[in-house]
Amino acid sequence: MRKKVVIGNWKMNMTAEEAKNFLRFMSVEVKDDEVEVGFAVPYTALWASIDAVRDNEYIGIAAQNVHFEPRGAYTGEISVEMLKEAGVKYCIIGHSERRQYFNETDEAVNKKAKVLLENGITPVICVGETLEEREANVHMGRIEDQIRKAIDNIDVRFVDKIIIAYEPIWAIGTGKTASKEQAEEMCSHIRYNVAKMYGLNVADNVRIQYGGSVNESNAKELFEMPNIDGALVGGASLKPTFTNIIKAAR
Ligand code: PGA
Repeated sequence: MRKKVVIGNWKMNMTAEEAKNFLRFMSVEVKDDEVEVGFAVPYTALWASIDAVRDNEYIGIAAQNVHFEPRGAYTGEISVEMLKEAGVKYCIIGHSERRQYFNETDEAVNKKAKVLLENGITPVICVGETLEEREANVHMGRIEDQIRKAIDNIDVRFVDKIIIAYEPIWAIGTGKTASKEQAEEMCSHIRYNVAKMYGLNVADNVRIQYGGSVNESNAKELFEMPNIDGALVGGASLKPTFTNIIKAAR
């Protein structure tokens, strides 16, 4: 049985002080382990956030990116060791905003996934198609390609630790959610492709989230679909009512 995992992606929002206050509130609200809960906070808020949830074993803190090299002349970048030192549990990689604005490639996503897994941090690998790709009916192939490259040649012992987030780009921040059928179809296609690469048992344990305009009204019906194991939530994770999305995953 796969445990649902709901992760808030704060993007470039929340100062360390704001994060601390919000997470203290969340820490009171999230009191059991029925659902795994995470918050992907800006780098500058990592330490304060981890401190704010220190007494709550049910909330994990995520980074929003990482560099795949261990150290060196990469101005502006952060290494896995730095995330580990802070106490990070998850790290988002390959988010469409990073692919689009910062040229993150499938190859980089694959390297990042490997170093994260080797260091005990769970990668949350984002994949998603554009509206043009969906309208041209090439979306299934597009996602298959992204998955194949992202999880290529990963030590089989680690594969079932990975979280994959299916986030159609046309649904992110637009208020336009994929229908539960569209989301389920793609999440099941993703699982099928993981199975092709690593076998059915492994694929059965990989958690696959949906992301893109998830809110308290549409979360429940998405979570009821057999291959949707939670959500990556942007805008709606910045509000206290995010607790309703967590409740919907129970
Ligand atoms: P959204 O963002 O929920 O605001 O659409 C989701 C994401 O980008 O992870």
